[in-house]
Amino acid sequence: MKNMDFIDLPQRSSARGVIRLPGSKSISNRVLLLAALASGSTELHGVLESGDTARMFGALKCLGASSVALGDHSYRIEGAGGCEKKVFPEGETSLFLGNAGTAFRSLTAVLALFGGNYRLHGVPRMHERPIGDLVDALRQLGANIVYENVEGYPPLRIRPPSPVETGVVRVRGDVSSQFLSGLLIALPLMGREIAVEVIGELISKPYVEITLAAMACFGVDAVREGWRRFIVPAGAAYRSPSVFHVEGDASSASYFLAAGAIGGGPVRVEGVGNKSIQGDIRFAGALEKMGAIIDAGDDWIEASAPDGGLRGITLDCNPIPDAAMTLAVAALFARGETRLDNIASWRVKETDRIAAMAAELRKLGAHVETGEDFIRIVPPAAFRFPPEGIDTYDDHRIAMCFSLAAFAGLARINDPACVAKTFPDYYAYFERIAGAVPVIAIDGPSASGKGTVAARVARKLGWHYLDSGALYRLTALAAKRAGIPFSDERRVASLALELEIEFGEGTVCLSGQDVGEAIRQEEISSGASLVASLPSVRNALLFRQRAFRRFPGLVADGRDMATVVFPDAGCKVFLTASVQARAERRHKQLIGKGISVSIPSLLQDMKERDARDSQRNVAPLRKSEDSLLLDTTTLSVEQAVEWVMVRAAETRQEKQER
Ligand code: DC
Repeated sequence: MKNMDFIDLPQRSSARGVIRLPGSKSISNRVLLLAALASGSTELHGVLESGDTARMFGALKCLGASSVALGDHSYRIEGAGGCEKKVFPEGETSLFLGNAGTAFRSLTAVLALFGGNYRLHGVPRMHERPIGDLVDALRQLGANIVYENVEGYPPLRIRPPSPVETGVVRVRGDVSSQFLSGLLIALPLMGREIAVEVIGELISKPYVEITLAAMACFGVDAVREGWRRFIVPAGAAYRSPSVFHVEGDASSASYFLAAGAIGGGPVRVEGVGNKSIQGDIRFAGALEKMGAIIDAGDDWIEASAPDGGLRGITLDCNPIPDAAMTLAVAALFARGETRLDNIASWRVKETDRIAAMAAELRKLGAHVETGEDFIRIVPPAAFRFPPEGIDTYDDHRIAMCFSLAAFAGLARINDPACVAKTFPDYYAYFERIAGAVPVIAIDGPSASGKGTVAARVARKLGWHYLDSGALYRLTALAAKRAGIPFSDERRVASLALELEIEFGEGTVCLSGQDVGEAIRQEEISSGASLVASLPSVRNALLFRQRAFRRFPGLVADGRDMATVVFPDAGCKVFLTASVQARAERRHKQLIGKGISVSIPSLLQDMKERDARDSQRNVAPLRKSEDSLLLDTTTLSVEQAVEWVMVRAAETRQEKQER
């Protein structure tokens, strides 16, 4: 259900299954850089292929390294072997690093000490993310770095370093741990012992642990004195470990584990576990505090929902800043409030994540309070689902964590492609473990009997029923009442967005008034056909139609249910009958209501409506390739209902077996 600007994630009925995680972004980007700096060739397996790692790959040749793709997420990196054989390109090399924070910070440090002339820049948001603390530290070591525009922020111009004799460098640790990580990775380039002293409370410590562990794998053991002082010894030099396996991404695991904790489970993620070096595996512990049932092995973690659901918690999130965003959305499904503390670093990430998360959680109906370094979430009494969608701020993690809102109902995620930064196939993975509420889509021409059949199938299954034609009829009726011409696309579309409608047992209400009879009048029938040919009206009604897809299932009838509104429907039927049979059925219906009309005029009318519905430019009536054809010319209603019931059961069976 994609278009360019948003993805509609239908309500999920449950979550269950196994996911093999893509490689860790944090580890991939560190070891790519270390392999490039090392002597020897390194085979890296399980490397994450995403926007952020592509930035790092693009930068490796500046260090004299090269990479060869071996297939299946494996690469061979020919390391440049440190400082000896440096050959710098003529002039200045320009490196565009998007919004990749890890790549930007670590490359700044490495290139500033390595030598050569570079311009490092990124997307506008990257130019708002501070880097002054790192530059200050590097300057103590002789680095020549100039801010191109604003003091303390990228873009940066880097020139070859000047020799400096110092053995100690001080760096602030309370804005981003990436400054310390970048510095540590670069220090072996100095060729002598250097001690790093951390000023201020070091945040996101587990990311520094990943840095130290990765450096150790490449032969450099930094000595750690608490979290205040780190010493890179004299003679430290990176050596290839020959082969390195990248763990699965623990931050990416958080979405699936939360899905298991909300949607039943068990959901198992493979690629991270008890032996992981990533701090974000502690997310599983946080979920456990919320009541989730967690199990884990060396290489896997599994989460299930507790009886009675999750409960709110108060948590210091300093060690898990990224995965904590997932907790904020899980909090919507918990009893009681959740407070996430010590998350000031959210403010300097891809966007101001505290402000962004608060705004989007509120859209769903939560009560949210924020401070400089905390967020407090009171779950909604009743979820709201904004037709304008959840905004994602070009922040992959916002898109991914808000996909969990689909456990409550239809979630429209704007700019869904931003997940490519770390997880290009995220939605396909989510689909695999979180089954969307099933749909039976029944399309066909007017008076084919699809409405009667669809409503009866829905009743038999105990599912919801959507008469999508009624929405177009209601739009036409509302336009008529407001004195808006059916052809006034802009005004009719904004009316369609605002319609106050309610479907009851055999009733259709517009602004609180039953209009079941009124929308079946001839003038409204042809008005509906007219407004249905306006693209903006169809767009305006799309969200409304999809919102009918609620647990335990939906039977929807119309013209474009299988092709546009529910293209992923498990069972698609195109129901038709000869135009003669349809005219006779309609004639019988009208006679029954005491309305006299001739069959030839009905026949003519029906042919015209068929032509208009199937020849219009947007969402014309047509049988999709994957729809089953049912011709009811000679069938009774009961026979048609039975036919659909059997086909629907078969498709459900096939899906389960797959
Ligand atoms: O199914 P019906 O006769 O109530 O539909 C009324 C009009 O709305 C009809 O002209 C076709 C149009 N329609 C549509 O374009 N797309 C739908 N999904 C349903 C109805």
